[in-house]
Amino acid sequence: MNDAAFQQCINPACGQTFAVEEVKVACTRCGSLLDIKYDWSRLPALKSLNYFEHRWATKGTETEGRIDFSGVWRFRELFPFYRTESDIVTIGEGRTTLQTADLLAKQMHMRPGHLLLQYEGLNPSGSFKDNGMTAAFTHARMVGAHKVACASTGNTSASLAMFASLAEMEGIVFIGSGKISFGKLSQALDYGAKTLQIQGDFDACLRRIRQIAIDPRMGVYLMNSVNPFRLEGQKSIMLRILEARDWEPPDWIIVPGGNLGNCSAFAKAYMELKELGLVKKVPRLAVINAAGANTLNVLVNDRKLTWQGGNFDPTIIQKHYAVLDESNYYPHTIASAIEISRPVNLPKALRALEFMNGVVREVTDEEILEHRAMVARWGFGCEPASAASVAGLRKLLEEQVISADESVVCILTGHELKDPNATVKYHTGVDMKVAQDLAPRETPHGKLSNPPVQVADDLKAIVRALGVDPDKVDLSAYNASAAKPGVPVAEF
Ligand code: F0G
Repeated sequence: MNDAAFQQCINPACGQTFAVEEVKVACTRCGSLLDIKYDWSRLPALKSLNYFEHRWATKGTETEGRIDFSGVWRFRELFPFYRTESDIVTIGEGRTTLQTADLLAKQMHMRPGHLLLQYEGLNPSGSFKDNGMTAAFTHARMVGAHKVACASTGNTSASLAMFASLAEMEGIVFIGSGKISFGKLSQALDYGAKTLQIQGDFDACLRRIRQIAIDPRMGVYLMNSVNPFRLEGQKSIMLRILEARDWEPPDWIIVPGGNLGNCSAFAKAYMELKELGLVKKVPRLAVINAAGANTLNVLVNDRKLTWQGGNFDPTIIQKHYAVLDESNYYPHTIASAIEISRPVNLPKALRALEFMNGVVREVTDEEILEHRAMVARWGFGCEPASAASVAGLRKLLEEQVISADESVVCILTGHELKDPNATVKYHTGVDMKVAQDLAPRETPHGKLSNPPVQVADDLKAIVRALGVDPDKVDLSAYNASAAKPGVPVAEF
C-alpha cells in the first residue's frame, strides 16, 4: 500500500481523506471533488527539476525504459500514487512538443520567440487525453477494474478505447447522438469499445455515466476528468513545457475550457512545484470558453464567482444552472470538444484561477475557425476547440491584458485531423456532415465490425444496453445517489 498518497476532498470545510486504493467519483461525505495528495515529507526529496533530464534519452524498449520513455511517467516522482512500477499502464503517451511559433506570432503582432504552441494532438490517440488516461488506467489496474467507461465529445472516447484495448479491459463510451466527429467515432469503434449513442448532449451523457458508475454493482470504473487520477497525469503537460524551456516557467498559459480538467491540473502542478520549492514563479492562466458554451465566463466575469479559499458561493452556480434549465438551453459551438455547459471541475477551476491569477474569456465560433486556420497555415494545425486558446490570446493582446513581449504558451489540445469537416467547410463551403448519417445503411459485415448502439437518454434503456436486466436492479437507488444534473459537484 502506498500510504504517502491519499485522496482528499477539496472542500476545506470537509477535507475528508480516502486511501488511494478506494474508487470514488466524489467525496462520499459531502459530494465535492477529490484531489490526490502526497505527504512529500515521506517521499524521496527532489532537489531540482534537472533531475528528470537523465530520462530524456531513454528508448523505451524494455519495461524500465517504457516508463522513462513516456512523457508522463518520466516525471513520476511528482505523482507517486501507484504501488509499484508494474501497475503503470503506458502506451508511449506524452511525447509531445513545444514549438516556437514565430510565423504565427508575427500575425498576432507579437515579437519572435514569445509565442509557443504545445502540441498535445501528437499523443497516440490524437489529443491531450492520453496524459490523463495513462494515470487513470494505472489506478484502474491498481484496484483491479475490468470495465472502464466515459462520456465523451470525442477525444476522451478515443483515448479510453485505445488504452482499454491495450490494457485488456472492457471499454464503454457514451457519446451524444450526432455530437461526435467522425474521426473520433471511428477510433472508439476501431479499438473495440462498446459505444452507446445517447439521444442527448455531452452533459446528458456525463450525468448518465455518473449514475451508472456510482453503483458498485455495475462494476464500472469512471474515466472522465472527475476522476482525480486523470488530472495527475495531465499535470505532466506543465512539466514538459518547463522541460522544453530549461525549467523556466512562461508568463502565460492559455488553454481552452470545457470540463475544466486541464486548467485544474495545471494549477495543481504549479501548487505542488511551488510547495516543493522547485519553481519560483507561477505563470498566469487564461481559460477560454466558446461563446456557445460559456458557463465559466458568465460565472466568473458576469456573476463574479471566485474560489475564496474554497468558500465560494454555490448559489451563484445553482442559479445559473436553473436559468439554463428553465430556458431549455443546450450549448452549441463548432468547437465540439468544449460544447459543455455544466463543467464538472468548476470548483477546481475557480481554485486554479485564484492560484494562477487567472482570467477567463469567451470567443465566437468565427474567431475559433479563423484562428484554427491560422494555426494550420503557420503551424502544424489543431482541432477547432484547441484554437480557442489562440483566439483567446488575440483578445487578451487587444485588451492589453497580455503584452507583446510576454512569453505565452497556448495549449493545442487536439489534432487537426479530428475534425476535417470543419476544415473542409471553412475552405470550400461544403458541409460533409450532411453525408454523415450515423445510422448504418447496411449491416456491417467486417470480421471485427463494432457498430454503435443507439439508446434513448433513459437510465433503464442504458442499463439494458450495458447487458444488465433493469428489472433485476433497483434503479431508484441510482437516481437517489446520482449527482443532480448540473450540480455534479458539491453542494457545499
Ligand atoms: N480540447 C479538446 C481537444 C478536448 O477534447 C477537450 C475535452 C477540451 C479541450 C476541454 O478540456 O475538459 O480539460 O477543459 N474533451 C472532452 C471529450 C470533453 O470528451 O473528449 P477540459
